[in-house]
Amino acid sequence: MHTGDKMNKKDKIIVALGEVVDPSNEKPFKETKAIRHVGVDESDGKKTVNLLIALGKEDDKVKQQLKRKIAKIIKLDMQYHGLSIDFELLEKKESILHKDIRYIGIASGKGGVGKSTVAANLAIALQRLGKKVGIIDADIYGSSIPTIMDVPIAMPTAGEDEKIIPFSKLGVELISTEFFLKPDQPLMWRGPMLGKMLNHFFYDVKWNDDLEYVLIDLPPGTGDVAMDIQKLIPECEMIIVTTPHASASHIAVKAGFAAQQLKHKLIGVVENMSYLYHAGEVLEIFGKGGGKEVADKLKTDLLQQIPIGQPKSGHHSLFDMTEEIGVTYLGLANKLLKET
Ligand SMILES: Nc1ncnc2c1ncn2[C@@H]1O[C@H](COP(=O)(O)OP(=O)(O)O)[C@@H](O)[C@H]1O
Ligand SMILES: [Mg+2]
Repeated sequence: MHTGDKMNKKDKIIVALGEVVDPSNEKPFKETKAIRHVGVDESDGKKTVNLLIALGKEDDKVKQQLKRKIAKIIKLDMQYHGLSIDFELLEKKESILHKDIRYIGIASGKGGVGKSTVAANLAIALQRLGKKVGIIDADIYGSSIPTIMDVPIAMPTAGEDEKIIPFSKLGVELISTEFFLKPDQPLMWRGPMLGKMLNHFFYDVKWNDDLEYVLIDLPPGTGDVAMDIQKLIPECEMIIVTTPHASASHIAVKAGFAAQQLKHKLIGVVENMSYLYHAGEVLEIFGKGGGKEVADKLKTDLLQQIPIGQPKSGHHSLFDMTEEIGVTYLGLANKLLKET
């Protein structure tokens, strides 16, 4: 979405549909700002458009009529092969999905490799480099971002406009699935609830108006949650986190392939717990080569190796940017900034 080329395509679609009239209020889309989300997927030589359109009224007849009109423009006039349209009500609050935000999913093959620690520290590093950053903790089966960032697990408050106020830590905004689940919520209910929750996070959370980056801590593995993310944010890019050990790397490759299959752009691989600095020596206590191997197999880059850090007091693990480990996070953040 951040390449000029893709922005252009989306803008063209918005312009092309601008004159379509919503029969429920007899106003053109461009006036009601009806087009809430445009996704363009160009994989396998097929060009597909995903739209989210806001209408004055929910009416099946109106929807059918509009679908035909829009299909004519997108498929016949603009020559796209596929089209999928979702509708919602206009009065629903604004979403951050159509804003020019870079979404980055942090994924891993298995738990315990430091996916959440990387997500939280990378967010802080980006913030230190002057970016407005939000984190969505979507690891619905094993949330840990609130602990890492030392934020209480509590229901966030609502503002005057009834939007949910995210928590904020060192300038980074955070919303977690964990805030909205009962601790005894059975695991099997959690996955299916995520799609709905994500929608809330995009529409009903009062994020900073100038938000530039949203990092999403994904559940480990290649499960159903990935599909929700793909549907909502097709432009979401991915970072794969692994450790240097071979046992972590082969499953990290699987997670990477899954992301690629869903047509997400892989930014690269982060190898966490790569080495320990001790008495001026670098000790590779968890093995070596895992990150490079994963990156090679996925035909992407090894973005950064992150050393083993000192545990912090309490459970939180945000590293100081003056520590060796903090410097590596700044390096990682800098690489992301250069990419855009
Ligand atoms: N680079 C690191 N150095 C030291 N401890 C780390 C590092 N990365 C992660 N940890 C610790 O490893 C454990 C697992 O990390 P976590 O981020 O929760 O993993 P995941 O999200 O992949 O399950 C946590 O206790 C975390 O504090
Ligand atoms: Mg985690």
